[in-house]
Amino acid sequence: MADCFTLEESIIKAQDFLEKLFTLEDEKSVISHSKRVALLAKKFAIYLEMEELVQTKLYLAGLIHDLGKYSIQIWKKDGAFTTKEKEKMNGHSQESVNLAYEKITTNFDVMMAIRDSHRFVSGNGGYPRLLREMTEMAQILSICDAYDAMTHRRTYQPIKTKIQALQELNDKQGTQFDPVMVQKFIEFNNASFDGA
Ligand SMILES: [Fe+2]
Repeated sequence: MADCFTLEESIIKAQDFLEKLFTLEDEKSVISHSKRVALLAKKFAIYLEMEELVQTKLYLAGLIHDLGKYSIQIWKKDGAFTTKEKEKMNGHSQESVNLAYEKITTNFDVMMAIRDSHRFVSGNGGYPRLLREMTEMAQILSICDAYDAMTHRRTYQPIKTKIQALQELNDKQGTQFDPVMVQKFIEFNNASFDGA
C-alpha cells in the first residue's frame, strides 16, 4: 500500500509508473492523454483560485485516472464497444483506484476524484453508480478528461474541434457534468487556455 509518499513523491511515482505500464506504441496515447488531463486540471484549478494543495491533488489525479486501462486492453479497439466490452471498460475507474492505491497514493481526495470521474453529476448515468454527490475535484477531472478525449485522437471516437467539444460539454451540463463547473470551464477556455 502506497501510504508513505508525499503528493510530490506520488507524482514522480505516477509518471514512472505510466511509462512502465504503457510501453507499446498503441498504448502511448494513454500517457500523453493522462499528462494533458493532469496539466489541464491543474490550470483550471489555478483559474478557479483553488488552493495549491488541491491543484497538486488534481494534477496527480489526472496522471493516474486511466491507469486501470492497462488491465483492459479493449480500449484500443476501433469502432463501438459491445455490451460486454462496455461493462469491462466501465470497470477501469475502479481498476485505476486499485492500482494507484497499491503503488502510488492512498490520498482519499485523489481516490474519490479518480473513482467518480466517469459518473454523471445527475446520478443517472456513467459509472460507477453511487448515491453520494460527486466531489468538486471529481467534477473538474470529469470535464477535463472529457474535453481532452474529445479534442485528441482516440481509437474509438472521431476527433472534435475545441468549439465542438465546448458545445458538447455545454449540452451535457446538468446531466453528465456540473452546470456551474461547465460554465467556468468555458470561461477559462475563453480567458486563458490556448487549446493546445
Ligand atoms: Fe481519461
